[in-house]
Amino acid sequence: MITIDVKGKVVKVAVSGFGTVGRAFIRLLIDVGFNTVKRCTGAEISIVGIVDSRGAVIKESGFTYSELSEILKLSRSAVSTYPTYGKPGATTLDVIDVTQPDVVIEITPANYVTGEPGLRHIEAALSRGIHVVTSNKAPLALRFRYLINLAKKHGALLRYSATVMAGTPVLDLLGHTLWVQGIKLIKGILNGTTNYILTSMFVERRSFEEALKVAQERGFAEADPSLDVDGWDPAAKLVILVNTLLGTDYRVHDVERISLREVSKLDVEELKSKGKVVKYLASAALEKSGVKELCVKPTVVSCDDPLASVDWEYNAVLIETGIGNRVFLKGIGAGGLPTASTILSDLVQVLLGNWYPCLGGDDE
Ligand SMILES: NC(=O)c1ccc[n+]([C@@H]2O[C@H](COP(=O)([O-])OP(=O)(O)OC[C@H]3O[C@@H](n4cnc5c(N)ncnc54)[C@H](OP(=O)(O)O)[C@@H]3O)[C@@H](O)[C@H]2O)c1
Repeated sequence: MITIDVKGKVVKVAVSGFGTVGRAFIRLLIDVGFNTVKRCTGAEISIVGIVDSRGAVIKESGFTYSELSEILKLSRSAVSTYPTYGKPGATTLDVIDVTQPDVVIEITPANYVTGEPGLRHIEAALSRGIHVVTSNKAPLALRFRYLINLAKKHGALLRYSATVMAGTPVLDLLGHTLWVQGIKLIKGILNGTTNYILTSMFVERRSFEEALKVAQERGFAEADPSLDVDGWDPAAKLVILVNTLLGTDYRVHDVERISLREVSKLDVEELKSKGKVVKYLASAALEKSGVKELCVKPTVVSCDDPLASVDWEYNAVLIETGIGNRVFLKGIGAGGLPTASTILSDLVQVLLGNWYPCLGGDDE
């Protein structure tokens, strides 16, 4: 068991990644987060380092509110140009070595081939007994058991609630409470980009290519949409959910994936005429003997299914438990502020010493 006594203490936090989520997190801390953490835990948060791909700002005694506000005004990749404290070329590992933080917030981009750079950041922190909060799915979708065991071995906590559905707390719901009922089925729309594209095909009668272009123009899809439309993103979220529940070590490549590119305007029109809809579902069927199904694919859904009416960028998940309970959760699955809010909530949980109970508490 991990007991953390932070009441009345200063907790040093390093932020690795200063893009959409990193900036929203610092803004949220200034607006409400510093006070929230103090009220809930009695601890004072001190931001001692912020890192982007070109360098860092480092201040061992912690940045003031007004310094953080100034840092927020810097353009992308320019954090290290900040006067006095800017360190061009400094990496997250340098910031960890110099500042010896209590918590690292890891929010760099997801890479499903190597897990880097997030994997080495999380590894470096946990192996020094430093707690980690992350929204980066890739390290967990590639090396789940290794990272959990590393955290346990070094008495650190690793929390990652923002990796699945961002601001909608499905991991907290499953990992803290619902797991006790025994989970039989998880079926969900875990990717907002693909749901936006499918909704546009259904409602606005667009082709896949047209719908993708509109999603890109409106900021719901990346210039390179392959992580979303080829299913890597929802597959990563699915393995994080399943591994958390079962303590397994599935990897993103273990998920059967069928790309959304396989769905044509004709398919959508034909289903619509039959009162049905196609959704890009991530599904896991869990049995005592193990996992029966782990897949991400375009799936025909009848109109009375609660997932049928989840449209545009929304995410939702339907969970069936061993005591016949069916729980449906719908909400925002992306965006800087929703993701940052969940990171803040995870930070509070870390300072209270709370691990996801279903992962068990014993050292491995
Ligand atoms: N955005 C969302 O709605 C959302 C929701 C849930 C989860 N997530 C996950 O959260 C993470 C962050 O997302 P985001 O939208 O903030 O991404 P982003 O806007 O692309 O920002 C990523 C940040 O990481 C920095 N970075 C890249 N390589 C680095 C390195 N080697 N060392 C330190 N920093 C490095 C980038 O630096 P530069 O500024 O120099 O490019 C940038 O500041 C991703 O893993 C994403 O999948 C995002």
